[in-house]
Amino acid sequence: MILVTGGAGFIGSNFVLDWLASSDEPVINLDKLTYAGNPDNFASLANDPRHHFVHGDICDRELVAGLLKQYQPRAIVHFAAESHVDRSIHGPADFIRTNIDGTFSLLEAARAYFETLSDTLRAQFRFLHVSTDEVFGSLGPDDAPFTETTPYAPNSPYSASKAASDQLVRAWFHTYGLPVVTGNCSNNYGPLQFPEKLIPLIIANALAGKPLPVYGDGQQVRDWLYVGDHCAALRRVLADGRLGETYNIGGWNEKANLDVVHTLCDLLDELAPATQSYRQQIKFVTDRPGHDRRYAIDARKIERELGWKPAETFETGMRKTVQWTLANQDWVRKVQSGEYLQWIDRQYGQQKEVNA
Ligand code: NAD
Ligand code: TYD
Repeated sequence: MILVTGGAGFIGSNFVLDWLASSDEPVINLDKLTYAGNPDNFASLANDPRHHFVHGDICDRELVAGLLKQYQPRAIVHFAAESHVDRSIHGPADFIRTNIDGTFSLLEAARAYFETLSDTLRAQFRFLHVSTDEVFGSLGPDDAPFTETTPYAPNSPYSASKAASDQLVRAWFHTYGLPVVTGNCSNNYGPLQFPEKLIPLIIANALAGKPLPVYGDGQQVRDWLYVGDHCAALRRVLADGRLGETYNIGGWNEKANLDVVHTLCDLLDELAPATQSYRQQIKFVTDRPGHDRRYAIDARKIERELGWKPAETFETGMRKTVQWTLANQDWVRKVQSGEYLQWIDRQYGQQKEVNA
């Protein structure tokens, strides 16, 4: 079996669902259930004996050591993190705790467990670290996309904490021989994404008749990847990635934020028409401090070495995402309560509308 951390979040829950749809290998799913963790994401696995959910913190070394001893997983797939840049600007402490201290704690528990394994089990064991392209910093308009050898230059508390976690993972390979492999992925979108990130927030606000907040001039560029493609890439990296290596994972889909918002409005105009175009709800608001201008991934290494390529185009992935959201309005309504409302008030309440 495998141990997944953060499997109640957006990408982790998609990974667990995809894993159990394509294999019978059981999953232990360890998640703290922060605001971003949602057991409804795997409600379809309620009676599935292959899925064991454990409510707990990756920083709890004793708990993790006990799980490793009890279940003897052949791999750890590490998603658990604080993941939202805007929240890291308002309050970085949780990012340092979970992303850095939590990864350190998990690495130490993994190392102690690894040392108890037989040679055969050691040869199979993997620690797959799930990371981001944001560790590389920001590109200029004509710069080549990030490769695996691009120097780290993180700019936000979030990306700095992920960069630190990547470096710890690297050091545990070089110093202790822990068999690690890392994926650095671009921006994900798709089903089950918490509506604080751009794409699900725009869809939810559009349908609720609320403003669609575009930061600054809306010309910042992100390289979008459908979440199912990221999960498929991680399965390839876990199966055949070379130990100690990092793999950049991206969709070759560079888009300016305003173009993403326009695409969503046009899809909603087609699939859930209102009295006027959803584009009328777009509002330019004050920019994010230190906002990275452009991310782009060169994904040739994973294609060359592991034969992975995204299956979805931006058009097919965005259509699937809007259709999923329209069909799952109960899920959206349920997560938009309590803590979510406080966050929206804090982040957007004082933001001023600006002319782009
Ligand atoms: P998410 O915020 O949706 O989910 C994070 C999950 O981790 C939640 O279920 C949360 O409860 C859990 N968690 C947080 N702190 C924990 C702790 N201390 N112990 C146990 N569980 C804890 O995040 P996501 O978007 O699914 O991202 C998952 C991973 O992928 C993160 O490591 C992130 O850095 C990385 N990543 C995300 C993107 C993206 O576009 N979302 C892109 C590249 C990489
Ligand atoms: P986000 O989804 O938060 O991902 P990240 O910051 O990790 O790339 O934001 C994606 C882009 O969209 C980023 O350039 C910030 C911008 N953005 C907005 O313009 N408005 C919003 O309300 C949000 C949440 C993001």
